[in-house]
Formats: sequence, structure tokens, C-alpha cells
Amino acid sequence: MNVKQKVSEILQTSGTEYFSGAQLAKQLGVSRNAVWKAIQELKKQGFPIETKHSVGYRMTQSIDLITLEKVKSYLHTKNLGATLYVLSTVDSTNDYCRHLLLEGAPHGTVVVANEQTAGKGRQGRVFHSPAGAGLYFSVVIKKKLELKNAYLLTACAAVATARAIDALYHTHTQIKWVNDLFLNGKKCCGILTESAFSLESGQLEYAILGIGINIRNTRENMPPELREIVTSLEEETEGLSVYRSELLAAILYELEELLPNLVDRTFLSEYRSRSFLLGKNVELIQDDGTHRRVAAVDISNDCALVVRDRFGSVEAIHSGKIGRILES
Ligand code: BTN
Repeated sequence: MNVKQKVSEILQTSGTEYFSGAQLAKQLGVSRNAVWKAIQELKKQGFPIETKHSVGYRMTQSIDLITLEKVKSYLHTKNLGATLYVLSTVDSTNDYCRHLLLEGAPHGTVVVANEQTAGKGRQGRVFHSPAGAGLYFSVVIKKKLELKNAYLLTACAAVATARAIDALYHTHTQIKWVNDLFLNGKKCCGILTESAFSLESGQLEYAILGIGINIRNTRENMPPELREIVTSLEEETEGLSVYRSELLAAILYELEELLPNLVDRTFLSEYRSRSFLLGKNVELIQDDGTHRRVAAVDISNDCALVVRDRFGSVEAIHSGKIGRILES
């Protein structure tokens, strides 16, 4: 942890008590100037820190901190989250899970972090994960699954996450094939699933389901090109406060409910009814980079997007990306 992260942790866990610069510097073994710099950076990031002349610094309001105790107090699952790591900062919760797997992490292990310094998105993109602004977590899945069924995990996680968000905040969360969640036409959540298979048995060895949800302050923290297409839960639910520990527990609950029926695909009807794309004309960006205008007509049983082109021919798309939504 760097000085900024340590200062933020001390201030967050000590309620509204003041800490002088000298006290913090002594406790952390750094200079007062380093503490001052850390405070300025935290303020810039939106942390509600008050400075009182000759007294010190404190948080003016309690911040939505994720702690082991808080998550456990909301958790009603059997396996998911039974082994739980709550980190202040990490490069990527998916990568952290991969390390834990080398040491034999069990099914249901969950890693959640307040901040990711190298959050990963799909197709090698970066997932911006500023401190306190989102819920960033990964779940280890060790379940007997054939390759042809394993890719259903992402779709299943999307439905579980959408259900949990709607149940807590009375929203209508939609799913943009294949793994983005949308609120009022803007992305609020992305899912990255990484997995390994045994070549011998053809079965899943493990999957790491990585879920990143924008909770607050997204706009200022985002690169300009993303500002118009992303949103956060608190922006879309005016006046509502999101408690990340509660949301995490709710998603794990919904996921645990859905997982046993993964292969039966019972969740797919809900996936379809939550679709942001069905019935719309969209820009399909194929793997070779070419763009095509197509109509999104269905989601197949193996979770492909079924599209119809302007000549009326219908095909199931398994990979690729949907760009703009086009006028009818
Ligand atoms: C996407 O939108 O392309 C997928 C984003 C997935 C982000 C989550 S945050 C938790 C987990 N750790 C990562 O590094 N990525 C996923």
C-alpha cells in the first residue's frame, strides 16, 4: 500500500476523529509533506476530508467502506463468499484469484477490492477502477462443466447481477449482449470471465468471474471518451445510497441460486427479456474489424446473438462486439 492508501484507510476506519499531520506521519513512518500530498490527492479523488487548522484531518462523513464484517453480516449463501478476501487495493481481483488458485482456492472464493490499479476489461481493455467509486470483485467457480456450457457462466452472472441491482434499488437493469449491464441506456457494469480447461477431460478446471460495477463519481474519474456512454448506480437512482457490501452479498446470493440450473438454461428467458438489443438495429463489429448493420432478433440457446442482415439472412453470432444502436 502506498502512503495515500494508508492515510485513506486510517481516516476511514477512525470515524470522525481528527488526526494531525504529525500523528499520521509518525504512524506511517513517512514525512509530513508526504502525508500532506496524500491528503491533497485523496481530496481530488472526492474523499470528504476536512482540514482543521492546527488540529488535523478527518473524514466528514462515513464512507461506503467494504469490510469483511459488513459483507458477512449481509451474506446468506452457502458456498459463494465462504472464503472471502477484502482488499484495500489490488492490481486486479481476477489476477489475485488466479494466484489463490495456485494455492488451491476452493469453489466460491471471493476477492473484493476498494480499488484496482490494473483492472482488466474484455479484449485487453482497461477497466477503470478508482478507489471507492465501484464494486470490483471476482468469484472462483469450480464446477463440472463441459466447454460448450461453460460460456453460459458469464450470461448467468449478468442475470444474477441485474436481479440483485433491481431488487435493491428498484431499477430496470438491461443486459447488452454478452456481458454488459445497462441502466437507462448507459453501461454501469462489465463482466470478464477467465477460465481454464483440462485438455484430457474437456471439463472446466476453474473459471474466475470478474464483475465491475460503477457505483458513484464515475464521470470525473473516466477518460473523456467514456463519459457519455457510462453511468453509475447512484447517478441513476437519485438520492439513493449504495452500500457496496450489501450489493456484493445480494449478487452472490442470486448467483448461488442460478448456478445449479446453468446447464438447464432456465435463466436464459430472463436474459432475453432483459436484453438491451433485441428488436433494435445495431452496428455489428466483427472480429476482423469490419462493421455491418444488422437487426438483433434473438439470443440462441447457446447464448449467441441471432441477427438478420438487410438481405434477410439470419445467423448466430458467437463473438464480436455491438457498436452503436442505429435508427430503425
Ligand atoms: C468489461 O467491461 O470489459 C469487463 C470489465 C470487468 C471488470 C471486473 S472488475 C473485477 C474484475 N477484475 C478485473 O480486473 N476485471 C474484472
